[in-house]
Amino acid sequence: MTGALARLPRMRAAVLSTQPGRTEVEELRIDAPMRNEVVVRVEAAGLCHSDLHFMEAKFRTPLPCVLGHESAGVVEAVGEDVTYVAVGDHVVCCTSVFCGRCRQCLSGHPYRCTDTAATERPAGAPPRLARQDGSTVEQFSRLGGFAERMLLHENAVVKIRDDIPPEVAAILGCAVLTGTGAVFRSAGVEPGSRTCVIGAGGIGLAAIQAARIAGAEMVVAVDVSDEKLQLASRLGATHTVNAGAVDDVVREVKRITNGGADYSFEAIGLKATAEQAFRLLDIGGTATVIGMVPSNQPIEVRGVDLLFERTLQGSMMGSNQFRIDIPRLVSLYLDGRLHLDEMISDRIELDQINESYDELRRGAVTRAVVKF
Ligand SMILES: NC(=O)c1ccc[n+]([C@@H]2O[C@H](COP(=O)([O-])OP(=O)(O)OC[C@H]3O[C@@H](n4cnc5c(N)ncnc54)[C@H](O)[C@@H]3O)[C@@H](O)[C@H]2O)c1
Ligand SMILES: [Zn+2]
Ligand SMILES: [Zn+2]
Repeated sequence: MTGALARLPRMRAAVLSTQPGRTEVEELRIDAPMRNEVVVRVEAAGLCHSDLHFMEAKFRTPLPCVLGHESAGVVEAVGEDVTYVAVGDHVVCCTSVFCGRCRQCLSGHPYRCTDTAATERPAGAPPRLARQDGSTVEQFSRLGGFAERMLLHENAVVKIRDDIPPEVAAILGCAVLTGTGAVFRSAGVEPGSRTCVIGAGGIGLAAIQAARIAGAEMVVAVDVSDEKLQLASRLGATHTVNAGAVDDVVREVKRITNGGADYSFEAIGLKATAEQAFRLLDIGGTATVIGMVPSNQPIEVRGVDLLFERTLQGSMMGSNQFRIDIPRLVSLYLDGRLHLDEMISDRIELDQINESYDELRRGAVTRAVVKF
């Protein structure tokens, strides 16, 4: 290897090469930032269940790719024209990279940005990441967060203050943004509402806390793990239901809420629990499915439930405006209303990702974070 290629910095990253498959730590080359790009030295990266869906081939993604989409770190280099951040700034990365110009961006929905090409490299440019032989490695979810460094469009980062722990900053980028955004933005929970969250993992625990902060009268947490339910109670659930210990989750939640929930949230990604979330609504209620239900899996509802103005909706990344939302979430954390340290159960190394995902599959982890 000669010249420019040999001088490019290297970094360790967890790469997924097959679907289904497991990650392997490889040494990759990372290019220098072009216009509007930034290099982030990653300090921490959270393990979201979404990556596991891709490892299990429930959804498809271009391969090989650096997995991970929940990372935070420090800006190490910026390309020309970058004015939003400078070297040394602390940032959280977010998959909701926005162009700022398309119909969705301009109508207040930057998380639905459709002009993805605008924030990728132009055709013919060298790849952002490559193997030692020069072949391209993709960035999962437009980020590739399980890596020592990330090379990103500047619209993939939000600047945050530098005095919060990196692992807390990391989980803001997906779990916390998605769970709280589903409550605050997608559903718009009002004070006094009866709410129910099915699935008390990383996303669900954030939704439970958001429902409490929004002033919900009831926050019913449903999970199959008593440990998760105990944590849910400490974080704001007013009632808990162990789905494995009752005959009928829907009947139990309707009993607790005296007729049904005004707002329900599914944070697992299963047909059965998405349907439960809808069926446990009171008249006029809204069910928000956050979980990634496998792509070709239909969900069934009864027509008559729609007559009574029940709504079934999805939520992408908590319908976020992340440069507004993440600094607000940091403030809620610092003033003690959003409990984020409690959501992190494991701190691991880059080469422990596969084993940690095995634990998540078993339900033994709330949020694991890779520390660099
Ligand atoms: N919509 C989005 O933009 C978005 C963003 C991030 C994650 N997600 C999705 O959200 C879902 C949750 O992610 P996570 O990281 O919190 O996962 P997680 O594994 O941490 O949490 C899932 C929880 O569900 C519980 N559970 C499993 N089966 C259950 C059942 N039948 N009844 C009740 N509880 C059950 C588990 O015990 C666990 O606590 C995943 O599908 C993920 O892909 C969606
Ligand atoms: Zn995620
Ligand atoms: Zn756009």
